[in-house]
Amino acid sequence: MKALKYITLLICLFMMSLNAHASDKNKKILVVYYSWSEGKNTETLANYIQEKTGADLYQIDVVEPYPSDYNKCVDQAKKEINAGVKPQIKPVPANLGDYDIIFVGTPNWWSTMAPPVLTFLTDNDFSGKTIVPFATHGGGGEARCFVDMEKVQPNAQFLKGLTVRGHKPKADIDAAIRRSKGVDNWLKEIGVID
Ligand SMILES: Cc1cc2nc3c(=O)[nH]c(=O)nc-3n(C[C@H](O)[C@H](O)[C@H](O)COP(=O)(O)O)c2cc1C
Repeated sequence: MKALKYITLLICLFMMSLNAHASDKNKKILVVYYSWSEGKNTETLANYIQEKTGADLYQIDVVEPYPSDYNKCVDQAKKEINAGVKPQIKPVPANLGDYDIIFVGTPNWWSTMAPPVLTFLTDNDFSGKTIVPFATHGGGGEARCFVDMEKVQPNAQFLKGLTVRGHKPKADIDAAIRRSKGVDNWLKEIGVID
């Protein structure tokens, strides 16, 4: 009789662990990103995360595009970041509230997130949700990108972020991501994929 009780308990625990596992992987995931340069580094990283997680994908788009000239863009971005400008962005998906985990990707611009990402995070409340930040950069790494995101969404739970150094042309960052396994390992570490 004791043995039967013990076996039943073990079966219950096993079923519960299966359930917990299933619900974790059943979370609804969105990958949001902004990308400007020709290399489309952040976009390429976002696409790869989407491919691995089966998430939905959304690209932040500005109403007034940044200059296509690099130096002009760098100058405008510097002014905007110094002044805390939040440029107007095109309408976001109406069902943002449906997602449990939101990956938010940005290029490192002047050591912080690009202003369109600041607009996105300021305009939408992710309290109680999980945000996973990621960034591409030209050598400056994460800098203040992720801590600045956390300041705008103090009531979201932030998981460990990832940075990848940008490349040009586009095919190079894609090849680098696939070669390194760094993204796969990170997604496993934060528990989003097996
Ligand atoms: C306006 C601007 C500012 C930038 N500032 C930095 C910086 O402070 N540190 C850094 O490492 N890279 C900086 N970069 C380089 C980008 O972070 C890098 O090229 C990134 O991978 C571009 O991503 P994207 O192709 O998605 O636009 C800057 C690029 C631009 C256009």
